Amino acid sequence: MRRWPSRIRLLAICVAAVAVLAYFLLSTPPVDDSAAISSSEEAIARGAYLVNAGGCVSCHLAVNEDGSTDSAVLSGGHALVTYFGTFYAPNITPDVETGIGDWRAQDFLLALQHGRSPEGSFYFPAFPYRSYAGLNDQDVLDIGAYLLSLDPVNNAVPEHETPWWLSRFALVGWNLLADLTGGKEPELISEQGDSLLIERGAYLARNLGHCGECHTPRNGLGISQLAREFSGAQLGEDKVEAIDRAALEDWDRSSFDLFLLLGMKPDSDFVGGDMSDVIEHNTSRLTDADRLALAAFFTR
Ligand code: HEC
Ligand code: HEC
Repeated sequence: MRRWPSRIRLLAICVAAVAVLAYFLLSTPPVDDSAAISSSEEAIARGAYLVNAGGCVSCHLAVNEDGSTDSAVLSGGHALVTYFGTFYAPNITPDVETGIGDWRAQDFLLALQHGRSPEGSFYFPAFPYRSYAGLNDQDVLDIGAYLLSLDPVNNAVPEHETPWWLSRFALVGWNLLADLTGGKEPELISEQGDSLLIERGAYLARNLGHCGECHTPRNGLGISQLAREFSGAQLGEDKVEAIDRAALEDWDRSSFDLFLLLGMKPDSDFVGGDMSDVIEHNTSRLTDADRLALAAFFTR
């Protein structure tokens, strides 16, 4: 039998390896095929609550022609200016042409838990899908139920402005690097015997409320360094304070709880900047139980 020259064999092995890798990286992640969006009032009400707790409004709110915003409408257009370009939050009302009117349950699961579009393309992490990845299916489906129950608004948002080298395709590698180099969040340890409350708080802080997207440091590629979660970060020109245990020495559960409701710190100063949006659209709308859970998590 004739043997192939070793160079060709090596090439064949490389091509096969790349093909296998590409298959795994580009194939659509598995999501529950049988999942469906409910149109029950209960699911819609839960979804409305989760959209507030998830801070979706801060980005997806409507921008009117005169530049003013309307947080009661999620038709998008708000510009997010980052080191990696300017991203416009899309229209997430159920308009078929310019929004998400034709989305199915699986599309919501893919988008929020995996950062993938219904066509299988990759979302930019200006959409904090790596935080939302930890959401449970039921919460994602209820969010979908609420969004699909909204009045459709026809509004085409501007195209993102990204540097030439940044394509959606590059996010295949970015997500892989983030998996490999992002590290792991510290274990939840509570000495106070209320681990269920703290677990709920962790879900709200790390996933739904995505507090780490602004408060956790990132490396040069914009990958959050989870082992140092909440130890402070740079947001554009601004430094974002640390909110880890060491930084919150002067805070206790009740002062943190009051902060989430009103934005007032223990020294009676009011918080400003992007955080006042988070208080207004997100944490002030939480139930007492969820605010307490967040406070318990951060002051554990
Ligand atoms: C920090 C800003 C930000 C927050 C917070 C945010 N999003 Fe987004 N979202 C974006 C951006 C930017 C995109 C577009 C990403 C892209 O084009 O790659 C996006 C995309 C989406 C899409 C895909 C829309 C489409 O037409 O393909 C959906 C659905 C969505 N977001 C829902 C949500 C929900 C639900 C929440 C809250 C749980 C949320 N987003 C929170 C910025 C945000
Ligand atoms: C969009 C970015 C963003 C998100 C998301 C965000 N924060 Fe903040 N946060 C900030 C900024 C910016 C400041 C500083 C504001 C200022 O300059 O007054 C801040 C300040 C704070 C402070 C005050 C710290 C101090 O010592 O003064 C606390 C506490 C805090 N955030 C908690 C949270 C929690 C809890 C969440 C999640 C529910 C969260 N943040 C989500 C941007 C964010």
